[in-house]
Amino acid sequence: MSIAIRPIHPVFAGEVSGIDLTRELSPEQVQALEAGMDRYAVLLYRDQPLTDEQQMAFSRHFGPLENARGGNIPIKTEDRRLSEGMNDVSNLGKDGRPLARDSRQRLFNIGNMLWHSDSSFRAIPAKYSLLSARIVNPVGGNTEFADMRAAYDALDGGLKAEIEDLVCEHSLMYSRGALGFPDFTDEEKALFKPVRQRLVRTHPITGRKSLYLSSHAGTIIGMPTPEARMLLRDLNEHATQERFVHVHRWRLHDLIMWDNRQTMHRVRRFDESQPRDVRRTTVAGDAMTVAQAA
Ligand code: OGA
Ligand code: MN
Repeated sequence: MSIAIRPIHPVFAGEVSGIDLTRELSPEQVQALEAGMDRYAVLLYRDQPLTDEQQMAFSRHFGPLENARGGNIPIKTEDRRLSEGMNDVSNLGKDGRPLARDSRQRLFNIGNMLWHSDSSFRAIPAKYSLLSARIVNPVGGNTEFADMRAAYDALDGGLKAEIEDLVCEHSLMYSRGALGFPDFTDEEKALFKPVRQRLVRTHPITGRKSLYLSSHAGTIIGMPTPEARMLLRDLNEHATQERFVHVHRWRLHDLIMWDNRQTMHRVRRFDESQPRDVRRTTVAGDAMTVAQAA
């Protein structure tokens, strides 16, 4: 078997064939997939039934995993459904049933319906995320991706110059606050301390520039907040036009992998009375976008 990648959108995103993700990969295979990610930024693999262990092992080919707990909403160990290393983005509780409507965990996860880049609220933000479909919801629940390189390229020169060196502050407090998420605890407020991120990033391998936007971005350093939020809104509106967006309609055992440095994503509303079990692993980034305390 040799790896092949077929484009599934005019500007980015590809579907990979010729690979079994449950197997240990050769260095050549890893290289082919990394090159595919640099080019397509989103890669889809169909028909890949995976255990959590297999998903983590596949993900580690691309770097160490991010600590799934640190920095995010604190969920008591005894309430967690999945093991260390797995991000549970399902709508399920430990009993395997959909979370109650007023569950804090559920309300927090609704934040994934805002366009974002994973872990942009961490000083060293994520490299890749990998999402595996274990139960597909019957209604809605598509995941959408936006190509932030193509969005950057399409800006006019004046705006590019204006934003080139801008630095934003990102925090879960901004994204969850935007949805009216109630009552952060003192522990959460301490965990969600804002971090700084460049607004324009350059990919370390390809050298392509991209807009680094995320629902977690809430201020721009040196700019009055309303002006900053308006600029961020405008840029988000620009970057998520249909021509830059790929819509993923889930099938059971899909695995989709994206580069958080070059894309944003969001999940659409679905039938919350029915299970939707998707599980994420996150490959840690290796650098800050601006100098700051870790
Ligand atoms: C995520 C996420 C989207 C989805 O796992 O980071 O945003 O489709 N999930 O559940
Ligand atoms: Mn996400």
